[in-house]
Amino acid sequence: MAVERTLSIVKPDAVAKNVIGQIYSRFENAGLKIIAARMMQLSRAEAEGFYAVHKDRPFFKDLVEFMISGPVMVQVLEGENAILKNRELMGATDPKKADKGTIRADFADSIDANAVHGSDAPETAAVEIAYFFPTMQICAR
Ligand code: PPS
Repeated sequence: MAVERTLSIVKPDAVAKNVIGQIYSRFENAGLKIIAARMMQLSRAEAEGFYAVHKDRPFFKDLVEFMISGPVMVQVLEGENAILKNRELMGATDPKKADKGTIRADFADSIDANAVHGSDAPETAAVEIAYFFPTMQICAR
């Protein structure tokens, strides 16, 4: 199995609930290493740029408003099969449909405020990681 990197975001709802540590524990217990991390308040332009692929979707405006509603915790996770592993830990986009024991089932309230983001493929992971972290800020270990 390949060692991969993926971009993860703890979204404003989960930061406000004070569950960053609980979410980080799930990454670590699943064998994912946090190799870069930064708490930040996204600007509107930064959120729009990150979600540009969804710019024509009906939920785009609300998604951007939500993502700038408070600080987010952004991290790069590394490990075997990290992209899929993180998606499994997260659970389905809609927390009502997320499997029991997943991050979204346990911490998210709605499809709009769904606790976490994770890259969905190697190509998007590379673009998303570069969006937030220059190579020098990633501590491979
Ligand atoms: S899709 O339909 O497969 O493109 O959707 P998905 O990639 O799962 O989600 C796109 C991102 O938009 C956020 N979002 C919503 N998706 C669907 N419906 C509604 N109403 C909605 N509101 C927000 C969703 O959480 C995804 O964000 P990220 O950060 O990528 O998880």
